[in-house]
Amino acid sequence: MKMPKDFIFGAASASYQVEGAWNEDGKGVSNWDVFSKIPGKTFGGTNGDVAIDHYHRYKEDIALMAEMGLESYRFSIAWTRIHPDGTSKVNQKGIEFYNNVIDECLKYGIIPFVTLYHWDLPQTLEEAGGWRNPKTVDAFVTFAETCFKAFGDRVRNWITFNETVIFCSLGYLTGAHPPGIEGDVKSYFQATHHVFVAHARAVELFKQAKYEGEIGITHVFNPAFSIDESKENKFAERHANEYSTHWYYDPILKGEYPEYVTKELEAKGLLPDMSEEDLDLLRRTAPMNDFIGLNYYCPQRVMKNDSDLVLAGGRENSTGKPGNPSFDGVYKTVMMDDKEYTKWGWEIAPDAFLEGMRMLKDRYGDIKMYITENGLGDEDPIVGEEIQDQPRIDYIESHLRAVKHAVEEGINVSGYFAWSVIDLLSWLNGYKKQYGFIYVDHNNNLARKRKQSFYWYQEIIATRAEEL
Ligand code: BG6
Repeated sequence: MKMPKDFIFGAASASYQVEGAWNEDGKGVSNWDVFSKIPGKTFGGTNGDVAIDHYHRYKEDIALMAEMGLESYRFSIAWTRIHPDGTSKVNQKGIEFYNNVIDECLKYGIIPFVTLYHWDLPQTLEEAGGWRNPKTVDAFVTFAETCFKAFGDRVRNWITFNETVIFCSLGYLTGAHPPGIEGDVKSYFQATHHVFVAHARAVELFKQAKYEGEIGITHVFNPAFSIDESKENKFAERHANEYSTHWYYDPILKGEYPEYVTKELEAKGLLPDMSEEDLDLLRRTAPMNDFIGLNYYCPQRVMKNDSDLVLAGGRENSTGKPGNPSFDGVYKTVMMDDKEYTKWGWEIAPDAFLEGMRMLKDRYGDIKMYITENGLGDEDPIVGEEIQDQPRIDYIESHLRAVKHAVEEGINVSGYFAWSVIDLLSWLNGYKKQYGFIYVDHNNNLARKRKQSFYWYQEIIATRAEEL
């Protein structure tokens, strides 16, 4: 089978991880511009000041994407280029930059797939309380509206937020992302609620103004599976899915929070402040979502955990080594002897990917899904002139095969975006952890080179994955 004609083969990036030019052309300071410069926060002290200089080299990069046959480029907009200080004041140079990127994509027939928020918040808003402060919701809606007005004549695909669970849990539980707070469970849940409200308001605004195209949100997709069939571990599986999947997907797609979680939070005094108006907004906008974006890298293998800790852990750290297990008082994630792992300890499990998509279909019906990220973080050897990344090819091939199965089974998956189109800055692991089809030579003026996987993906797209 070839993938359907309207299935999109794409690849992705995010503003802070590629653009650089952190203080050029009127751009304001973001929370990441500040946080990454705090000693010890990132591997080797790396930051996005220059990143891979996509800001100045977007033409060369998009030409390479076109050569690869990419059908869509998912990128994010740096809020601080558009509204440098987080207010409604617009920086025209910022608008101009994204107009250029969008037009360059369209010149080659590449669909610009735009993420509004991929974690780089104006520092002014961070200092005023960030996502704990409901005013950040208002500021986001202003930012979204500016983008819809400026780019909505050409952009037809909008993602409001990337991975709420990551920037909220790493921001308020582990302290690994800005604002760098540890163990503040109340703020964690409050921040997630504000993000869902901000998403819902942007969706409603988009629909009411009758912009053409579609809008949705991208979540981490990290389905939990028990390590065995025992009752207690099966319970841990359910608990993990309630907290890491249903808490995020239900308010968007069902318009209400999962009762299992709200009851527990209420009992512990951790339920976010939410007004009737907020809840009504979530209910009313749920059916307006055109799609859900899934970022899938690995599943969670879980078992029962007896501990007083409420929530902790997370897959990322900045040591350049495998991450910590996630856990709360009920479950913990574990590594298993019979599973395969990446160098960073993320399980390679295409079967769990397919199983997870089935779980989503069971719970949320036929909502359109895009795989908005999937890929392998690795250190690619250079042999002679060639950048050899066969493990990446194997990883993406097996996961694309899972997507193909899903489509054959009637699961509504409409596109696949590899992470990442080009080697870029890993938030916490610098340039050591590579994901791209295109290599960036940090010892040679950031020169771009095609990897093995570049030619492989080119062939996959040209044949619409028929051979998979
Ligand atoms: C996702 C993010 O969580 O994972 C990306 O959306 C990120 O921005 C990717 O780069 C891989 O994470 P890491 O930590 O391996 O760079």
